[in-house]
Amino acid sequence: MTVFKVFRHTPGEAPPGFVDYEVETPPGTTVLDGLFHIKHELDGSLTFRASCRSAICGSCAMTIDRVNRLACLTQVADLGSVVRVEPLPAYAVIRDLVVDLEPFWQQYRAVQPYLQPKPSAPSTEWRQSQETRRLLDLPAQCIMCAACTSSCPVSWTDPRYLGPAALVKVWRFVADSRDGARKERLAAVNNEGGLWRCHTIFRCVDACPKHIHPTEAIENLRREVIRSALGRGGGG
Ligand code: F3S
Repeated sequence: MTVFKVFRHTPGEAPPGFVDYEVETPPGTTVLDGLFHIKHELDGSLTFRASCRSAICGSCAMTIDRVNRLACLTQVADLGSVVRVEPLPAYAVIRDLVVDLEPFWQQYRAVQPYLQPKPSAPSTEWRQSQETRRLLDLPAQCIMCAACTSSCPVSWTDPRYLGPAALVKVWRFVADSRDGARKERLAAVNNEGGLWRCHTIFRCVDACPKHIHPTEAIENLRREVIRSALGRGGGG
């Protein structure tokens, strides 16, 4: 038996607070399984986001025992007898564990997160070498769960900061040999709201459920900005 200490709040209706639920947690139970049990068997009003249950959609990112994680990927057996579940920090609570991610999506849209092909793009299959494609392996894994950005203390305090998730997305396209907007992408993040606002706090690295290492992506972008300034850019 595990006690789920779950944050409950409906702005304008119910004040914020924690409610305890006792849940049977046989081996293999995830935090998401526990939340579904609460919703289906104990309190149907509990509200949270979830979809794929396979660490692919990113919907169930929340703060579990004070760490941002995916509920579907977190085994209860790896936690204590009391599991504390809260919404992602830094975003307004819509209800219970659901937050308003619009600021996150604004940051995401701002970096134009889509391939802008080079003028030399072939009209047929566009091949990349294994070595070139390998540069995208990690950043392309991002599931946009917002666990990294909402764990970053700089993001909490400076709304200008793009945050690690959006910067990972920039690196994903700067590193892509097919993208033709490299120069513009680097210029767009070469400022105080972009690359240079990261204080290398590394909380984003701990939070990422896909082990993408956002700080490394940010450092790669910084290196490319400096290389470009020295007239040595053009890689990727
Ligand atoms: Fe924030 Fe990660 Fe940088 S936690 S300050 S984006 S290293």
